[in-house]
Amino acid sequence: MHDAELYTASHELQKRDAVQVLTEYLNSMSWKPGDRVLDLGCGPGTVTSQELMPRLPANFGILVGADVSPVMVQHATNRYTHPKLRFAQFDLSKDIRGTSEISALGFDKIFSFYCLHWIPDQRKAVSNIYRLLRTGGEILLVFLAKCPIFEVYSALCQKPEWRIYMTDAHRFISPYQQSTDPGEEFSKVLLDTGFEVVDCECRESKYSYNTVACLKESMKAVNPFLERIPTELHEEYLADCLMEAEKQKFVETNNNIEQKVSSFSYEIIVAHARKI
Ligand SMILES: C[S@@+](CC[C@H](N)C(=O)[O-])C[C@H]1O[C@@H](n2cnc3c(N)ncnc32)[C@H](O)[C@@H]1O
Repeated sequence: MHDAELYTASHELQKRDAVQVLTEYLNSMSWKPGDRVLDLGCGPGTVTSQELMPRLPANFGILVGADVSPVMVQHATNRYTHPKLRFAQFDLSKDIRGTSEISALGFDKIFSFYCLHWIPDQRKAVSNIYRLLRTGGEILLVFLAKCPIFEVYSALCQKPEWRIYMTDAHRFISPYQQSTDPGEEFSKVLLDTGFEVVDCECRESKYSYNTVACLKESMKAVNPFLERIPTELHEEYLADCLMEAEKQKFVETNNNIEQKVSSFSYEIIVAHARKI
């Protein structure tokens, strides 16, 4: 997913969940003047600047949005300017013991929305977050535990025409897709790393797209394989994604309007923890 404009236009679901969790948790976090805030996996910076920043106490010190994708970071830097806001490239899945700009800073609050399911090595990601956090600091994480889109990836990577582009499909499927208790599993990762877990749960949620075109755009916006597939095959690939979605029954015909619509359930992990 490197198309910042497309993602910005099709991320209603992700934005809705971020706003809901921020509304729920921000006031229960302990804030002090000058707090340094980090948003990991900020993507195009829309949620960071339009949803997170306006909800922070006015006396926060600095807000940094960090993302592994240089395209996203560039987009966010060009689009959103504020004296206390900046964006930087950073890979949460790599060893950060070195002296990157982000690791040198140290943060009091770390947020992350819809990013952690992209990282297969959860223990590495969480211990990186721990290192980036100052003692007494808090984290609020929201990411996918289970989603039918991952079943679409699993099915498509077995098809001969797409297999060559999706050899590492397992890397892009949430580590909790087959888990019997994602909340408990992630809570254990937090505890083992040294966090005090304030709250960690897996919630079921639902989302509906009024048209299949909207679902297609949002699938396209987050698909990690498209950039490897030749452009002339994109439509065929996306049509196959939708066909698989129909098989999985999250695209169905609404007989009242004689149109295909999409409605599905998914699960997110919401975690609030503290470094003691
Ligand atoms: C679905 S987007 C979420 C963007 C934004 N947080 C939001 O809620 O709209 C996931 C983002 O995580 C980033 N990401 C994936 N793996 C990452 C990693 N290892 N380190 C940092 N960012 C990563 C992707 O580049 C992408 O921009």
